[in-house]
Amino acid sequence: MNSNGTFGEQQYYGPATVARTLRRDPWWVEALLTALVLGGFVVYATWVAFQPFDYAHAGPYLSPFYSPCLSANCGEHVSLPLIGSWWNLSPAFLILWIPAGFRLTCYYYRKAYYRSFWWAPPGCAVRDARSGYSGETAFPLVLQNIHRYFFYLATLVLAFLWWDAALAFRFDDGFGVGMGTLVLTANAALLSLYSISCHSCRHLCGGRLDVFSKAPGRYRIWRLVSRFNEHHMFYAWISLFGVALTDVYVRLVAMGILHDIRFF
Ligand code: FES
Repeated sequence: MNSNGTFGEQQYYGPATVARTLRRDPWWVEALLTALVLGGFVVYATWVAFQPFDYAHAGPYLSPFYSPCLSANCGEHVSLPLIGSWWNLSPAFLILWIPAGFRLTCYYYRKAYYRSFWWAPPGCAVRDARSGYSGETAFPLVLQNIHRYFFYLATLVLAFLWWDAALAFRFDDGFGVGMGTLVLTANAALLSLYSISCHSCRHLCGGRLDVFSKAPGRYRIWRLVSRFNEHHMFYAWISLFGVALTDVYVRLVAMGILHDIRFF
């Protein structure tokens, strides 16, 4: 190479400017899997929302996609009677926008779908599919900042899911534990791990503090939440599977395809 950066007559730009990436590993597998699983969940959740309420509950069990049930057409499963009998669409429409907004604006899921659906970028050290990049400082992505408010709303929904788990111990013949009881309880626990490990929760516990020594209680809570936060991606995925599988279980029992095992 001579002093003006050329090899003879040819200008040298370096390999990174020509290739999309220099990576040799199958970097696209993660993006592809994420797109398939996340896309599959969105399709399933949309399908569930359009289903009649009849198969969203079985005995004391209520599908998490419908909780809290706000309309009179939830029958005995109504959690908060806010909407009268005039509402004849699926009760899921009234509530699903909260967990959907919570996940859509989640810091982890943002990374996941920016990579797998928008290819911006598709992976570390892989060039963006598009040339322009405005980040999250311009509309509409600046709206991602409302995540903390979805966190507050999702915490309310979570309280109802724990209430549903408690109700799942109450059978017609009294207190009992069935397979559905365990499924609903596990689902509430997984969603709690997802919420506790949320970045907004961490900020709520330890944010806006200049000196931790002046707030030792908050510091201890922040340290604990930070440990959960390190595994936020893991909790994001297992809680997603948990919600879908809980709905599948309740639905199959309601349809008579599965028989709920009663332990006592
Ligand atoms: S950052 Fe993922 S739920 Fe808040």
